[in-house]
Amino acid sequence: MQLNHTLHPLTIVSQQSDAATTYADFAKDITNGLNQTPKKLSSRWFYDAKGSKLFQQIMDMPEYYLTRCEFDLLNEHKQAMASQFGKEGFFHLIDLGAGDAMKTKVLIRELTATGQNFEYVPVDISVDAMQELTEDLHEEMPAVLAQAVVGEYFDALKWLQENKSARKVVLFLGSNVGNFETQESINFLKSIRSYLQPGDKLLLGADLRKDPETIIDAYNDAAGITAEFNLNLLERMNRELGANFNLQAFQHYALYDPQEGVMKSYLVSRTDQQVDIHATGQSYTFKAWEAIHTESSHKYTLQQIQELGKVCGFNTETVFMEKNQYFADVLFTVD
Ligand code: AVI
Repeated sequence: MQLNHTLHPLTIVSQQSDAATTYADFAKDITNGLNQTPKKLSSRWFYDAKGSKLFQQIMDMPEYYLTRCEFDLLNEHKQAMASQFGKEGFFHLIDLGAGDAMKTKVLIRELTATGQNFEYVPVDISVDAMQELTEDLHEEMPAVLAQAVVGEYFDALKWLQENKSARKVVLFLGSNVGNFETQESINFLKSIRSYLQPGDKLLLGADLRKDPETIIDAYNDAAGITAEFNLNLLERMNRELGANFNLQAFQHYALYDPQEGVMKSYLVSRTDQQVDIHATGQSYTFKAWEAIHTESSHKYTLQQIQELGKVCGFNTETVFMEKNQYFADVLFTVD
């Protein structure tokens, strides 16, 4: 479906699941997680409207270095990136999870200023986000060829494979890869690879290992926004599934395992309690100080991130880091 409401086209290849599907998936997934020992909930449910707003606030927190570092990195290395992306002529710049494209605009401006021949293809599951970005690009950068695609990543990549035959440079920024468990990240990158051809590239953002205190602080901001973001998962269950979680009876707890290189976030029950979920008809008992695992954020060594790429069929072309060596964007190629 094409919506030609601005000069830049917007294509919908798959829609965000409708409310009923989301509700059913949510109910099924949380039932599965809360019936496990130890209990867990998937971080994919963080991002309802309230959670997405809180995540925007987290990115502005002084302790959350990831976004700032990647922004600095892109500014430091934009010339090299632009010439490496563009050296073989026209390409599609595919931005997975583009959102407001705040960081990607650094690259787009550089690519435009240096006269590279490209089409910007932001991909996101949110129609609203892609409509806003389309309008924003039209206002701010009317000369940039752009086509937003609304859909799940793999539906979008399939559509691109069928509809855009030129060379592709895929961006997966923000250390989003770090929220996958190891095998999931391998499956994900292998799927991306299956949609690419020799000569295509992938720029993968990854948070690097560093002083554990710096990492711990990023997930325990003094203003308590990350705690609110984590607790919103329980609030969401109260709102959408008729659960009766008492938010005061749970606390955010995040700790870093420096051997595994994983920041793990939990919601810890402060007391013995029972919680009922009206929509599923299930009740759960929590012992005092029992924890629900809610998120893993992997931190990589450079060797690990290159190895991950290699296992998935990519070769490292260039490792870009910002001055503190906190964050890397690794440019991979496909042979
Ligand atoms: C989206 N993702 C890369 C963030 C992270 O750092 O793992 C989500 C987040 N969780 C707590 N703070 C930010």
